[in-house]
Amino acid sequence: MDDEADDLADSPVEGPRTGAEAAPANDPPAQAVLRARRLCRVYRTGDTEVRALWEVDLDVARGEFIVLLGASGSGKSTLLNLLGGLDRPSRGELWFEDHCLSNADEDTLTRYRRAHVGFVFQFYNLIPSLTVAENVALVTDIADQPMTVDEALALVALMPRRDHFPSQLSGGEQQRVAIARAIAKRPQLLLCDEPTGALDYATGKRVLEVIARINQELGTTTVVITHNAAISGMADRVMRLVDGRIDRIDRPPRRLSPAELSW
Ligand SMILES: Nc1ncnc2c1ncn2[C@@H]1O[C@H](COP(=O)(O)OP(=O)(O)OP(=O)(O)O)[C@@H](O)[C@H]1O
Ligand SMILES: [Mg+2]
Repeated sequence: MDDEADDLADSPVEGPRTGAEAAPANDPPAQAVLRARRLCRVYRTGDTEVRALWEVDLDVARGEFIVLLGASGSGKSTLLNLLGGLDRPSRGELWFEDHCLSNADEDTLTRYRRAHVGFVFQFYNLIPSLTVAENVALVTDIADQPMTVDEALALVALMPRRDHFPSQLSGGEQQRVAIARAIAKRPQLLLCDEPTGALDYATGKRVLEVIARINQELGTTTVVITHNAAISGMADRVMRLVDGRIDRIDRPPRRLSPAELSW
């Protein structure tokens, strides 16, 4: 039998989650769930080479809430896709706990995504011919230790809509279904690419409230890409990308609730 590791960073993949405790003031966080070292993603199209991500070092603590800001084309989605195992780096190292993602083959990345990552995108990607409950069940049917569909829908306050079809829902409701689908498998990582990009002010706030609640109540490590700098107020740390590099990292003095944000 293995001894229990006393360093949580090396704990097994299914190990305990410790919630959203504050990381120390200086980087890097003690318990990194994600670690990138000199991470690069270069796209080659004909003779053109685009350094979408260039030598990024990054540690994300367990339970942390990170907001990723940056101009269009600065590499935000590229970074998120690498963290979520949707893409592989051209160079550099990427670790999820003690699993090396940068060397992983396609099957390993698929298993990583299925077991550990929930994605939320700007456009909700719901299946129009399935009801709300059926859309969420697509995930709970194949996950190891999922919530029930109704638990996931209750977390996003959509139980009354469980038998509706996506076309019968507002944009914000559809995004909340997408969030329920992303978190129903109890992922360790929730990765959101402009989750409020298509939503109006009030609806966007409601969706952010759901994301903040999942981060805090389930301890889900969360990364949110946004063009809306006001959302930074919700974060433990705010990272700004410029031309494929992390230009600066800020730690707001206090995490605000979405209700306290205005833009
Ligand atoms: N498949 C691809 N092939 C070639 N270049 C790509 C590809 N995907 C992204 N890029 C380039 O990589 C750079 C970073 O793109 P990325 O999508 O990460 O930006 P972003 O910060 O998410 O931008 P936005 O805010 O517009 O979504 C851009 O210059 C983009 O044109
Ligand atoms: Mg993008």
